[in-house]
Amino acid sequence: MKLLNSLIEKVSDHPVLFIFFRAILENDFKAIRAVIRRDLDMSPGKRTLDLGCGPGAFSDLFEHQDYVGADLNKRYIDYARENRRGTFVCSDARRVDLPDARFDQVLIFGLLHHLSDEDTRAVLAEAKRMAVPGGVILAIEDIPAQHRLNLVGHLLHAIENGEHIRPTADYRRLYGEVGQIEVEEELRSGVCDYYLARIRMPRA
Ligand SMILES: C[S@@+](CC[C@H](N)C(=O)[O-])C[C@H]1O[C@@H](n2cnc3c(N)ncnc32)[C@H](O)[C@@H]1O
Repeated sequence: MKLLNSLIEKVSDHPVLFIFFRAILENDFKAIRAVIRRDLDMSPGKRTLDLGCGPGAFSDLFEHQDYVGADLNKRYIDYARENRRGTFVCSDARRVDLPDARFDQVLIFGLLHHLSDEDTRAVLAEAKRMAVPGGVILAIEDIPAQHRLNLVGHLLHAIENGEHIRPTADYRRLYGEVGQIEVEEELRSGVCDYYLARIRMPRA
């Protein structure tokens, strides 16, 4: 298992391979792209922050917007700067060097299940700080595989380095500390199960 884990880490660190394998496992992200379009404001001119953006696989959805992606992995950010439209910053999501109230909406996809509760709280506090009052955070995070016959899903979670894959109730509790959950659902993307929540920031 350890060997498999380090192989996955190595493959994941390569932006092209990371995009390629995830797209296969998640049916080209059709389900995820559909809910992002449904639950974020896709109008031109909106300001969107993608926290833990990886190599920027979703930046094309926001090409008529002021889109900023932030990720800790420099290889991903270098790749995104060369291949994607938007602004990309190499940064820890727990402390981002961007101004208060800079964005109308914040996307967080597949980041928090890598982080402890304490770090998750720090990321959510940063997202809230950078969002306008009344803005939204759309968080889509891994939950344990829901169907016992989803063997690939179970295996992936066993070997992936998402040490903090939580049940829905735990994410809900953390999100409730920063705002009001106004949309939520559990959904399947390829072999992966997720909890989606759109969290409305306080207006004042
Ligand atoms: C599963 S990937 C998801 C990437 C992207 N959202 C996507 O779906 O393609 C998790 C991402 O979180 C990033 N990450 C992990 N810890 C981070 C942190 N503290 N700050 C910023 N990014 C982080 C990793 O570098 C990786 O790109």
